[in-house]
Amino acid sequence: MGRGRGGRARAPSLGQAPAPDQTAAASARQAAAAAAPPPAAPPPASGTVFAVDAVMTGGASSSPPPRRGVAAAAAQATRGSSAPDAALHGSAADSFSRAGQTALVTGAASGIGQSIALGLAQCGANVALVDRNEQGLAETAALIVPTGKKTIEIVVDVTSAVSIDAAVARAQAELPGPLTLAVNCAGIANGCAAESLDESVWDDTMNINLKGVWLSCLAEGRAMIAHNQGGSIVNIASISGTLVNRGLLQTHYNTSKAGVIHLSKSLAMEWVKHGIRVNSISPGYTATPMAMRADMKEQRAMFEEQVPMERMASPDEMVGPAVFLLSRAASYVTGHDLVVDGGASVW
Ligand code: NAI
Repeated sequence: MGRGRGGRARAPSLGQAPAPDQTAAASARQAAAAAAPPPAAPPPASGTVFAVDAVMTGGASSSPPPRRGVAAAAAQATRGSSAPDAALHGSAADSFSRAGQTALVTGAASGIGQSIALGLAQCGANVALVDRNEQGLAETAALIVPTGKKTIEIVVDVTSAVSIDAAVARAQAELPGPLTLAVNCAGIANGCAAESLDESVWDDTMNINLKGVWLSCLAEGRAMIAHNQGGSIVNIASISGTLVNRGLLQTHYNTSKAGVIHLSKSLAMEWVKHGIRVNSISPGYTATPMAMRADMKEQRAMFEEQVPMERMASPDEMVGPAVFLLSRAASYVTGHDLVVDGGASVW
């Protein structure tokens, strides 16, 4: 959510802006280098930037010799024009289209996952709908029918590696094209004071909210690595992964969501070389069945009071952010946690 990010020491890579405290030394080195013949181009790194960089800098054929990263981008750009992040040509509006892509959405039977699955179909993707709630999956499939896009409904418990692996295999076998888009949204929430929390509730929350996202990412990422056409994964975290919601007793939930945010960043770093972007979305208070439970009536009034926009989000308001992160419009965005909270985290 953008808090407390300052102060982390990090070695800059070639082509990256230097940290302020390194600028003076770098200037001195540059002055010395200006009098000397240019050094040989460093060997290309593998897959450190996305294809769009090749377009912006002229790609592999540009002169002088490519700097580190551009060669990698050019190599990636040749990987296949169907890659979801293939070089940006055409209008900005086109860059949001997901036409012809194959997507998988967990938690697709309800709430945010249902809205995102429908939104992806409206943007042209065929969608594998994954959830443990069979009836909800049928409802989502019915909502998608008017788009004309293909869907398959797959009943899965995301805590089972075998089940989620099989779901990814089915998506690739039964929908056109390789899996290039995934949204991992399945989750649960409940409140309980930390000192009274039953160990089994902690385990369930971690198993579904964190391990389930991890297993889903693994199944999706392995498929994307295997087909070598890149991909984009969005994990649904929560503002509770970064802040502690005033008045909500949910240590277990908050902790699971913090894990989802950091899992996403970690996978983003590991899979960048495969052309796979991994980001998370942290919704604020959203009016889904999870938050509209009868026992949450008082809390909903509190939520509205705590949000600058003075209302909860509609699940539909998570669609645009998800489509953006899954689209070519976000081709240079990875390892990011996109907070969508009506301003709840600004005060
Ligand atoms: P929801 O209850 O409407 O949807 C959650 C879906 O996940 C359900 O369809 C459920 O069947 C499915 N699910 C749960 N456990 C599963 C399992 N083991 N295997 C397969 N599917 C399973 O809730 P909502 O609000 O749409 O939540 C979606 C995600 O958004 C969750 O990860 C939640 O933590 C997150 N979120 C929700 C917020 C809210 O205010 N509603 C705020 C921040 C994050």
